[in-house]
Amino acid sequence: MTQYTDIPRGRTLRLLDAFCCQGGAGMGYHRSGFDVTGVDKDAQPRYPLGFHQSDAIDFIRAFGAGFDFIHASPPCQHDTDCQRIQGNTHPDLIGPTREALNATGRPCVMENVRGAAYKLHRPVMLCGAMFGLETYRHRYFETGGGFTLTAPEHPAHLASQAKMGRPIPEGWYGQFVGNFSGVDLARRVMGVPWMNRDGIREAIPPAYTQHIGSQALAQISTLAVAA
Ligand SMILES: C[S@@+](CC[C@H](N)C(=O)[O-])C[C@H]1O[C@@H](n2cnc3c(N)ncnc32)[C@H](O)[C@@H]1O
Repeated sequence: MTQYTDIPRGRTLRLLDAFCCQGGAGMGYHRSGFDVTGVDKDAQPRYPLGFHQSDAIDFIRAFGAGFDFIHASPPCQHDTDCQRIQGNTHPDLIGPTREALNATGRPCVMENVRGAAYKLHRPVMLCGAMFGLETYRHRYFETGGGFTLTAPEHPAHLASQAKMGRPIPEGWYGQFVGNFSGVDLARRVMGVPWMNRDGIREAIPPAYTQHIGSQALAQISTLAVAA
């Protein structure tokens, strides 16, 4: 496995995309200007950036301090309504992920869905309407390591929303979850043309993390100048 060390000033800043799946989050950080490395326990042949297959918490503990910023999306199945109804149990990795992130001392965000937002510390919510996307897809972001995140103004939800996973009437907004129909539409709406259905149902739209990445780069640069 790669050993990470400090790299001289002037380099591209390095971001760890933990629990990366097919790279919705990773792509946004890449577009904001970070050099992104994704980590997932499963092989992710569609991940469009540098990738390591590993347990994400072990990887953060071993190598996280070598990155300039860390993003983590621990699995949310534990907290989705349909999983609860079906009585399925999944490990809750939010607490262990936070502990691993805090131990690195690096600026970071940990993301999750509405059902888990109560477990996050003072999360900031991002919505597709903030970025002109035709889906609302609220996602919640806890920040750490001195990073602060500001959300754009939240526009009113004016479009009708199709029911979860159901076909989307013209002019309505979709919810791309479960075994949803309309993968091509979802690719366009979410801005993830390289993904399949499995990746899309899990993904953060890259527009969200491009926004976060821009704020992270500005704050890290300010700290570097002040140091
Ligand atoms: C919600 S998805 C992440 C979505 C991603 N942030 C995006 O925007 O496309 C969660 C991912 O965590 C992975 N995962 C679950 N447990 C893991 C573990 N212990 N270590 C690494 N990856 C894990 C799953 O394989 C899944 O791909």
